[in-house]
Amino acid sequence: MKIALAGTGSKLPSKVLTNDDLSKIVDTSDEWISQRTGIKKRHIIGENENLVSLAFAAGKEALESANIEGKDLGLIIVGTSTQDKRLPNTACELQPLLGAKDCACMDVSSACSGFIYALSIAYSMMNTLDIGYALVVGGDVLSREMDWTDRTTCVLFGDGVGAAVLKKADIEEGFLSFDIGADGSKGFALYDNSYGDDRYIRMDGQEVFKFTVRTVPHSIEQAIQKAGVHKDDIDLYLLHQANLRILEAVSKKLDIPLEKLPHNLERTGNTSAGSIPLLLDEVIKKGMAKKGDLILLCGFGAGLTWGTCVLRL
Ligand code: UT7
Repeated sequence: MKIALAGTGSKLPSKVLTNDDLSKIVDTSDEWISQRTGIKKRHIIGENENLVSLAFAAGKEALESANIEGKDLGLIIVGTSTQDKRLPNTACELQPLLGAKDCACMDVSSACSGFIYALSIAYSMMNTLDIGYALVVGGDVLSREMDWTDRTTCVLFGDGVGAAVLKKADIEEGFLSFDIGADGSKGFALYDNSYGDDRYIRMDGQEVFKFTVRTVPHSIEQAIQKAGVHKDDIDLYLLHQANLRILEAVSKKLDIPLEKLPHNLERTGNTSAGSIPLLLDEVIKKGMAKKGDLILLCGFGAGLTWGTCVLRL
């Protein structure tokens, strides 16, 4: 038995902030943000929205797309760094909302790599505990962690959640490989203190950029090698949506056509653990990815962490 992707879902909050909106709050411009990042707008939560409400909507849609019910789930894992509550975890909050019962529930905190970390844990637990269906959610509401006077961070991020159902199936392929890692010595480059005077997200953008352009191509090569395929066999490379320039640099370094690296960051901003499942759901809904395609997912971010996997849809 192998582990396959059975369905996806996603949810962006209703409120939209454009670059022009931000230029009224901090000393920035649409020109700077567009040229340096590719981002044009992002969604942020309104009064009646939070991580659980977005995760519930995304999770429900993923269950429907997999054609299963909450009661079929043996596991819920949420990759997030912005839980609504410290206790209970987000997955436990989702369990009764989705109609699931008694299944294992946990959150994984690995920032923008959180969805890939969560997928790899779900993959392992499904095998060791003989679980038939797992819901893996990735998402963040970083707008709550933002210093809205700091132009070096507040223009970059947005809120959003995506979800995927994994199933055990009698198939040849499904998830083929994972490459997961971290360099904790670079934690200073992107952090968010939970106590003390400064409780906002802070980033040394250039340090993270350098790390990314060095580490991501290597992780992609490792995952491709472990999967026993060739880079040209991969139909789509779905990378964490932090910056269009990062996608261009990775495409150039690995000699992969840029058209194989779809992006939605111009509409979503950097949604942290949400970006990969949001993009995965989008390319499936648009028919850009279909059954039988070989897909690579790659996340990178605070930690500094990274995670890549290869799967046959
Ligand atoms: O999700 C986790 C992973 N995150 C990432 O991968 C982020 C990686 N880093 C990046 O994407 C880029 O480093 C940034 C988009 C964050 C920044 O772009 P950059 O080309 O590295 O700009 P910079 O930090 O070198 O700043 C260049 C200039 C500075 O001014 P001076 O010192 O040259 O006068 C900044 O103060 O741009 C200034 N600046 C801004 N100007 C207008 C910084 N933020 C802004 C802004 N609007 N929002």
